[in-house]
Amino acid sequence: MTIVDQKALREILAFYQEAGVDTAIGDLPIDRLNAPEPSVAPPPAAKPAPPPTPVRTLLARDLANGASAAPPPPDAAIMAAREATRTAATLDELRAIVEHFEGCALRATATQLVFARGTPQSRVMFVGEAPGYEEDKSGKPFVGRSGQLLDRMMAAIGLDESNAYIANIVPWRPPGNRTPTPQESAICLPFIKRQIELAGPKIVVCLGGPSAQTLLNIKEGITRSRGRWYRLQTEEREVRALATFHPAFLLRSPLQKRLAWRDFLAIKKALSGA
Ligand code: URA
Repeated sequence: MTIVDQKALREILAFYQEAGVDTAIGDLPIDRLNAPEPSVAPPPAAKPAPPPTPVRTLLARDLANGASAAPPPPDAAIMAAREATRTAATLDELRAIVEHFEGCALRATATQLVFARGTPQSRVMFVGEAPGYEEDKSGKPFVGRSGQLLDRMMAAIGLDESNAYIANIVPWRPPGNRTPTPQESAICLPFIKRQIELAGPKIVVCLGGPSAQTLLNIKEGITRSRGRWYRLQTEEREVRALATFHPAFLLRSPLQKRLAWRDFLAIKKALSGA
């Protein structure tokens, strides 16, 4: 019988949580300290490399319900995501495609897909980086503390869920709220671009540096890019886009709200002429 020291257990869990490890990825613990020594036997003779998996096959497998395989390599996953999104004629179809896409490993650790909230066909669409803990639980973007600040900022210029649409570059929560890797963002980029095409906003607002860099394909950090208008290019259209601070940053640096307010006034002005 295993004797469990409840106090030690609680302490180690608290330690993990503080370190950002808050997602279980297996049913059973692995005791890595007692793991068998790796075999020192010479590696078997190399087999000839298999032919590259055609994207169509990947796509068919990715979209197949149930069959779970290791995610494809990033380049193949990006191509599969691009090809899959082309077939989406509506936001509901796109949502279903993203929901079943197996090319991004974040899907396996997230509780659920966080696709969007608000009203598609609104004149403005806000795009953040990736869902956090609260969003992962509720399935809706920007519902935690930073979302509440975003709602207040939107309300100040007459926006709410009835006349704005909100989504993220990456629609699954990275474990421990870590920043999505460039690969994860690149894999998900075709999805958000198609979402923008199908939602049809006149203006896109990129919330934070990672959102602006990924969507606008720019290198500048947010202190340089904020307040500037860009042209966001999707396969089918070009949309005006403004970069501004992420609300989570504003919660940490309230003095910067002054500049964010300027950006929101610019959004208001642009919408009055859109
Ligand atoms: N931060 C984001 O970028 N997106 C969310 O949905 C929540 C927090």
